[in-house]
Amino acid sequence: MEDILILAIESSCDETAASVVKNGREVLSNVISSQIDIHTLYGGVVPEIASRKHTERINQVVNEALIQANVTMEDITAIAVTYGPGLVGALLVGVSFAKGLSWAYDKPLIGVHHIEGHISANFIDNKELKPPFICLVVSGGHSHLVKVKDYGEYEILGRTRDDAAGEAFDKVARVIGLGYPGGPKIDKVSNEGNPHAIEFPRAKVADNEYDFSFSGLKSAVLNYLNNLNMKGEEYNQADVAASFQQAVVDVLVSHSMTAVSEYGFDKFAIAGGVASNSHLREALKKACEERGVEFYMPTPIMCTDNAAMIGCAAYYEYLKGHRSGMDLNAVPNLRLGER
Ligand code: KG4
Ligand code: ZN
Repeated sequence: MEDILILAIESSCDETAASVVKNGREVLSNVISSQIDIHTLYGGVVPEIASRKHTERINQVVNEALIQANVTMEDITAIAVTYGPGLVGALLVGVSFAKGLSWAYDKPLIGVHHIEGHISANFIDNKELKPPFICLVVSGGHSHLVKVKDYGEYEILGRTRDDAAGEAFDKVARVIGLGYPGGPKIDKVSNEGNPHAIEFPRAKVADNEYDFSFSGLKSAVLNYLNNLNMKGEEYNQADVAASFQQAVVDVLVSHSMTAVSEYGFDKFAIAGGVASNSHLREALKKACEERGVEFYMPTPIMCTDNAAMIGCAAYYEYLKGHRSGMDLNAVPNLRLGER
């Protein structure tokens, strides 16, 4: 069979990314231009700036992906692009660019769901992994516990009722003076803290054991800091970070393992930016080992936003015959499993 080369574009948040992926799982290039430096000045992603930076960089990023893969547009089989969920202005830059390429070079266009991309990152780093499995998707915008029934076929078992896991990391990091982006900083500083110094709540959602809620935990951290502040006492940054992180990790592990045993799955994977958290990876690895469940995780670079994961997801969509038209639009609230 002829090789299928997908040129994938991702611009849903603050990384402008392009990649060439061969036959779904072989990454020929993976170019990521991060805007973190600019957004750090404002303490978080500023949507308008994100769109503008994507516009400035996308041409160069896509060219670089082709050069690094040592291919030209003529070699490309199809063009894939993230069309949701994400920041509407940011998504539009990628979608418009991809549509332009598809039109100019007469190549099929495939719109990809961002979360489907995150889940698919597991296929790139674990060549033997095949559905079905349970996947915990934890990123800056999403916390989902998903049953991956087949390629491109998902059932959402649980989701967050309020903040996403990454959002909670970012907010707590800000209040304890660690700055943006919070996740990696909490991960690091926690190594010097005691995860049991403060017992923060582990929230349960009454009517769905797989749903998450992190806003109570965030408030508990704020209350803890305010109380000390009123008494004129100092807090220990590393202890707060480690204890907060432990509370998040405990909830993510317990929900995940309940799903694995209830549905009798023997494979479990993680995805999304928060999945690069070293403590979470360690805890899930151990929990899976204890239950004889095979544990899969992408490398940290494949956990955070990139275009290779979009190219991988697009490959399986391509095989199923899914194509997008020139009317493809950015869908900021696109739900998983919808087309
Ligand atoms: O998947 P991602 O790159 O973008 C979204 O689709 O949202 O995830 C970004 C999120 C941010 O909230 C960031 O703080 C978090 O992932 N994150 C981490 C770590 N690295 C990134 N959270 C905890 N520990 C980390 N090591
Ligand atoms: Zn993401």
